[in-house]
Amino acid sequence: MTGGAMAATQQATIDAVYQARGAYRRYAANFLYPAEAACLLKYQPRFCGRDVLDIGVGAGRTTHYLAPLARRYEAIDYSPVMVAYLKRAMPGVSAREADFRDLRMFDADAFDCAFASDNVIDLFSHQDRLRAMSEVRRVLRPGGIIAFCAHNLRYGRAFSGPRLEWSSNPASLASNCAKFLAGAWNHLRVARLRLIAEEYALLNDQGHFYACLHYYASRKTVTAQLEKSGLRVIDVFDRAGHSLEEGEDDSHTPHLMYVAERQPGRLSCIDDQRAQ
Ligand SMILES: C[S@@+](CC[C@H](N)C(=O)[O-])C[C@H]1O[C@@H](n2cnc3c(N)ncnc32)[C@H](O)[C@@H]1O
Repeated sequence: MTGGAMAATQQATIDAVYQARGAYRRYAANFLYPAEAACLLKYQPRFCGRDVLDIGVGAGRTTHYLAPLARRYEAIDYSPVMVAYLKRAMPGVSAREADFRDLRMFDADAFDCAFASDNVIDLFSHQDRLRAMSEVRRVLRPGGIIAFCAHNLRYGRAFSGPRLEWSSNPASLASNCAKFLAGAWNHLRVARLRLIAEEYALLNDQGHFYACLHYYASRKTVTAQLEKSGLRVIDVFDRAGHSLEEGEDDSHTPHLMYVAERQPGRLSCIDDQRAQ
């Protein structure tokens, strides 16, 4: 399959999940994951009273925490289903349809903080991922930060398929069997689309029962990708919310929460393109 055909197929699996009727139900919650909570506590001064962009906001799980504290809060999602729900659920919040890979609706240097929770950036092809990074860098002010979660290629179980979890409780076992069957069926359909490249892999996993492909990369690769986009990693949290030093073993965590800061100055490859 060519790169373009692969990207189109990957996008089709994503659209089927996030643009389906009722897709918001799965995300209509108001808790934070431990890594998000740790990150928001530590970087509170970077978003309190500041201008915040919440990308791939879904049903507004993070809106509950960011909107009341921000000076300006903008929520975007590419799925009309998610945006329509958020507008109904939180009419006072600015929620718009927009694509992470094309943030032209916002001026350059418009935000102090961007948030892209729950692996939104992993839904893209390699090229689109780099585009999303440079877009976010463009809309951040110098010194502004982006906090986002991304799958970890060094996770010990990154390449495994579905497995049946045993339970002595008959109701839990029945539910586990149903999940296993859904996962096994999707895995049969989607696993042939998996891609293992030099610096990353596109893998289907437990998320959505193996139905969509997610981008997996190591911390080293993500750091280098961000660096090229003019964003410097300043912190990385594991799933439990522990801050990990560079080089520390991270094979226990399926995803990592990155905090990266926009570097001052121009980045000719991005800024010149935008000026044209
Ligand atoms: C895993 S959900 C996370 C939702 C929310 N951030 C949360 O943590 O509850 C991914 C979200 O990204 C959105 N999304 C997918 N592709 C996108 C894109 N290209 N631009 C903006 N949002 C996108 C989906 O519609 C979905 O709402």
